[in-house]
Order: sequence, then C-alpha cells, then structure tokens
Amino acid sequence: MTNQGAQSGGMARLQLPNKEVELPIVIGTEDEHAIDVTKLRGESGYITLDEGYRNTGSVESKISFIDGEKGILRYRGIPIEQLAEHSTFIETALLLIYGDLPTADHLAQFRDMLIEHENIHEGMRHCFQGFPPTGHPMAILSSMINTLSCYNTDVLRMEEEGTFENAAARLISKIRTVAAAAYRTSSGMPLMYPDPKLAYCKNFLHMMFSLPNRAYEPDPDIVRALSLFLILHADHEQNCSAATVRMVGSSGANLFASCAAGVCALWGPLHGGANVAVIEQLQRIHASGTSIKELIERVKRKEERLFGFGHGVYKNYDPRAHILRDHAPKVLAKLGRQDPLLDIARELEEICLSDDYFISRNLYPNVDFYSGMLLRAMGIPVNMYTVMFAIGRMPGWIAQWKEVHDNQSRIYRPRQVYTGPPLRDYVPVEQRA
Ligand code: SDX
Repeated sequence: MTNQGAQSGGMARLQLPNKEVELPIVIGTEDEHAIDVTKLRGESGYITLDEGYRNTGSVESKISFIDGEKGILRYRGIPIEQLAEHSTFIETALLLIYGDLPTADHLAQFRDMLIEHENIHEGMRHCFQGFPPTGHPMAILSSMINTLSCYNTDVLRMEEEGTFENAAARLISKIRTVAAAAYRTSSGMPLMYPDPKLAYCKNFLHMMFSLPNRAYEPDPDIVRALSLFLILHADHEQNCSAATVRMVGSSGANLFASCAAGVCALWGPLHGGANVAVIEQLQRIHASGTSIKELIERVKRKEERLFGFGHGVYKNYDPRAHILRDHAPKVLAKLGRQDPLLDIARELEEICLSDDYFISRNLYPNVDFYSGMLLRAMGIPVNMYTVMFAIGRMPGWIAQWKEVHDNQSRIYRPRQVYTGPPLRDYVPVEQRA
C-alpha cells in the first residue's frame, strides 16, 4: 500500500426490503474497513443515520492515525512517542502540514517566516483594549484569530504559489502573540512585543511573563515541557474541532476564519475545555476535602463526569496521557516543586483503573487528565489551558484545512432524518389557542 488512498475491498451487499444494493468496501492503510455509501441514496433512496458521526468516516485522510483499542497515535505514520522524544513543535507542524519531516533548509526557511510574522498589526493591539479583564481568553482568541483575516488580506485567497505557506506561518506564529495578549489583558499587564531573537516556545513564554523592565528567563526544562505539550496536542484525526475546521473550510472560507471556528469548537468542556475542568475537579478535592471516594460515587450516580477520563475513540489509555503522566513529575522535580493535585490525580487514576464501573466502560485517562499538571508547573494560569491546547492544535487544523483545499472537496452537507410535524397550514394569530 502506498500513501495514495484506500484500497478496494470488494463489494458489500445491502439487502433492503425492496431491493439489494451493492456498495464498495474500502480499506485504509492500517486495515480499517469502510463501506462507501456515496451511491446509496441515488440507488435506493435510503440515507445512513449515525448520531454524532461516531461510526461514520467523513473523509479519507493521510494526516494522523489513531488505534483506539491499542492506544496508538501516529502523525503521518510516525509514532507520537518518537516525536515526543526527538522532535520540536515546528518540525512536527511541518510534518503534519506537508506529510514528511522537513529538510533542514525548509525548517530554517519556515522559522524565518515565523520570525517575520510574529507581530500583529498595531490596529489589532488596540482591539485588546476593548476586551474586559474578565473576558475569557478563548473568546478573545477565537475573535482575534478571525480578525487576522482583516489584517492579512494578501493571503486570504490561495491562488498564488506560496500563499498557503505564508498564511500557515502567520497563523502558527501570531497565535502565540494573540494568546499572550489575551492573558496580559485578563491580568491587567501591558502587552509584550515578540522578541525575534527567541525560538518559538521561549518567545511565547517571554510574551506571557516578561515585564517591560524585566525579561522572563524560563528554565530550559519549562521550554522543553512546552514544546512537548504542543507536540502532543498537534493533531488527532477528525476530532470535534478538526471536523469543524474542515466543515467551515469546505465552504471556501479562508484559513483564518476556519481556524477561528476550530477555536470555538475546542472551548467546550467535553473537548479541549476538559483540561480546565480536570484541574477544577482536582482542586475541589484538594481544597474542600471532598474525598476521591465521594467523587467516584457522584460519577457513578451520574451527578458529574470524571473530566480527563474517557474518549470517543480511545478505549484504552491515551498514549499522550502516558507521556504527560511520566513527564510532569520530572519537570516538577527539576524545578524543586511539589503539586498536591498530581498526587490526587495519580490516586484517582489508580482507583478508577481497578473499578469495574470505569473498566467496563473503557474509561481511561485522556490527554487532558495530566496536561494541566504540566501547565501548572510552567506557571500557566488555568483560564489559559484551553488556549494552550489551541496553540498546539493549530498545525493540525491547518493540515486538515489544506487537505480539504487540495482535494477540492465538495461542501460538507450532512443529511438528516426529519421527525418534525407533517404538512400543515399557517394559522392567523387570532385563531390560535
Ligand atoms: C479531547 O476526539 C478527540 O480526539 C478529542 C481529543 C483531541 O485530541 O482532539 O482527544 C481531545 O477532547 C479529549 C476528551 C476530553 N473530554 C473529557 O475529558 C470530558 C470527559 N469525557 C467524557 O465526557 C467522554 O468520555 C467523552 C465526551 C470524551 C467521550 O464520550 P463518549 O465516547 O460519547 O462516551 P459516552 O458518552 O458514549 O459514554 C459511554 C458511557 C456512558 O455511561 P453509560 O450510559 O454507558 O452508563 O461512559 C460514561 C457515560 O456516562 N462516561 C463517563 C465519562 N465518559 C463517558 N462517565 C464518567 N466520566 C466520564 N468522563
């Protein structure tokens, strides 16, 4: 199998009440089998129904691969464990976007573009003065990522060669500047300008924590931890936010607008917002003395969810959670810090993974369960956790959008089964009950 497309797996026969329909079987690189139902409606009048698309492939994609049963994640075929150990965030971003690890020259050229485009227009900086300090950073991020469309009009249409990479570099570079500005706005501190002498992660930390009169010098382990965090969050098949970016991009919407929509989808507590909900849940145990046992009983009574546990695809341990679980204590130890929430998280995990309620439902820790510990060790405030997820996921969204654009995909337009009222006439207001 070359990295070309799905193989044909013969035909599936669907026996309907009034006819038999033959549908092609397609087989993916990792032996995933699917029935291509493109012709089903035309040949039978039937559509398929699959609430939330949980059993429906929306696309053939070459970007990332998850084996939920085995707890496997690969970016363009490379295991996440190897990228976590050997790669950098920008190298991983280019791997996801272009399909192969970049050459040294391409990496250097792209890094130069990131430096060239790290700043935002002064008009955008003034926008931050209009946000209240209580404004949620995810609201600010989604609106300001879309606002980039106003200030980067030269890269909205992907006609000329090179326009796409220019737009991608601007998004990957400027999301740091916008994210740090969102934090500075919420904390009443002056916005910091990016420093062209600093590499990607260090420059972000500089914009987050430096003061006009005092530069922030992060511990190298914190910089490395941030790079690891971003690599682990970079892409994840057709998750809610990636599917949103593809949906919006399929209408022909530009890259900035499509990724702004991805930020909005990520915000939800069932998706990227879970990393905040995890910390809040652990803090409730630590601060109010709610016992782990009480929390688990509440979860079993379905009075609350155990955030950071469970996954729409993984029915095993999320490999990213494994890496974060092992890395967080190393960073804390190197910094000479303790985090009581990490001890609570580990105890909670141990209890759940031996409790049939969780085992029988295949509920294991996901990427969000330990990611907050790493962010706490870096000094990132909780209200910025999902913003950090968005910075990591940006290359994945860009890669997913590019796949829609390059394949000249048709506009995404799911069907439905209508169950509303049958035909009826308009009733004038005076005749209504
Ligand atoms: C991310 O899709 C991606 O790839 C996402 C992501 C990415 O990188 O893009 O991996 C990032 O979003 C990770 C997930 C972060 N969300 C959370 O941690 C929120 C808590 N998790 C759940 O809400 C839930 O597990 C989901 C939303 C993640 C997945 O839900 P599913 O697959 O739809 O599971 P389900 O609702 O069908 O639940 C099956 C059973 C139910 O119990 P029963 O009705 O069978 O009795 O499991 C229970 C659910 O009540 N269940 C949970 C639970 N998750 C599922 N019970 C308690 N706590 C949970 N977290």
